Amino acid sequence: MRVLTGIQASGKLHIGNYFGAMKPMIELQEEHELFTFIANYHSLTTSKDAATLRQFTIDAAVDYLSLGIDPEKTTFWVQSHVPEVLELYWILSKFTPMGLLERAHSYKDKVARGIPASHALFSYPVLMAADILILDTQKVPVGKDQIQHVEMTRDIAIKFNNEYGELFTLPEHMVQEDVATIPGIDGQKMSKSYDNAIDLFMDEKPLQKRCNKIISTSTPLGEPLEYEECHIYNLAALFLNEEQKQELRERYKSGKEGYGHFKKYLKELIWEELAEAREKRAYYLDHMDEVNDILEQGAKKARKIADAKMEKVRDAVGLL
Ligand code: ADP
Ligand code: TRP
Repeated sequence: MRVLTGIQASGKLHIGNYFGAMKPMIELQEEHELFTFIANYHSLTTSKDAATLRQFTIDAAVDYLSLGIDPEKTTFWVQSHVPEVLELYWILSKFTPMGLLERAHSYKDKVARGIPASHALFSYPVLMAADILILDTQKVPVGKDQIQHVEMTRDIAIKFNNEYGELFTLPEHMVQEDVATIPGIDGQKMSKSYDNAIDLFMDEKPLQKRCNKIISTSTPLGEPLEYEECHIYNLAALFLNEEQKQELRERYKSGKEGYGHFKKYLKELIWEELAEAREKRAYYLDHMDEVNDILEQGAKKARKIADAKMEKVRDAVGLL
């Protein structure tokens, strides 16, 4: 089954992104033909400046490779290295009713948050449809906020297929229902916009400092601690199996340890979980030529499929 997803590179990744999106996405490569790209044309719609967009794109490539994208299994590239999607985007625009775009939640949300209402922002879902359709994608793993975009993709594809022949595969979204919302250090949803995130790749000392900032109740040492509502416990639980969670609950109940101990324990868990990724990351940062090579190979492979598709599309619509 061909699975495709786009990564919006928007800065440092945190534990919420890791458990909520990256880890489940990377695991898909074990069972599916996975295509993943860094959506830098999409990021351009909200980008501050050239240097930042460039840096975010490179950071995302290095981080995703470090966390386990295996270039032997997964085709991994940068969106703008397969510029054929822009040609398809224009062609698909003809099959995209204005009303469809006007109903897009994501556009309305972004404008409500103060992002200038540009044409690129408005037509963002058409480019996403081009990403998906140009590679004959069957499944698209996305967060809940992106389901509507996959549905719009289907609508656009159906319209095209009805008028010009069955050229496009109709994709389906794939949403992980059981992914919990990971809390930040203040207990709200962890998000880079709320200043409550624990970043994935921190040095050990700042990581401990960040864990120390997790808000907890002030129970005196010697008394049993509540774990149900404890953000430290809830974060630690992400790294533990059932037996280990039970052990941790016992430690909370024993009253022998305070929150400081559990903050240290949480830091250890995060540090351990990312040990291998940290090593790989150091390696890739030192061997950027390898990263570029992987992206180039990925783009070559994706482009071959995109090229073949575009020949058929041009022919179908009558472009010489
Ligand atoms: P942020 O809120 O930090 O800006 P993004 O919106 O860039 O995060 O999220 C990227 C991906 O990570 C999305 O698929 C989103 O569902 C997932 N994600 C982000 N924060 C969390 C969280 N706290 N819990 C679970 N998943 C999350
Ligand atoms: N819009 C997606 C997001 O914000 C990123 C994206 C771009 C994408 N093109 C895609 C996701 C194609 C899946 C398929 O997360």
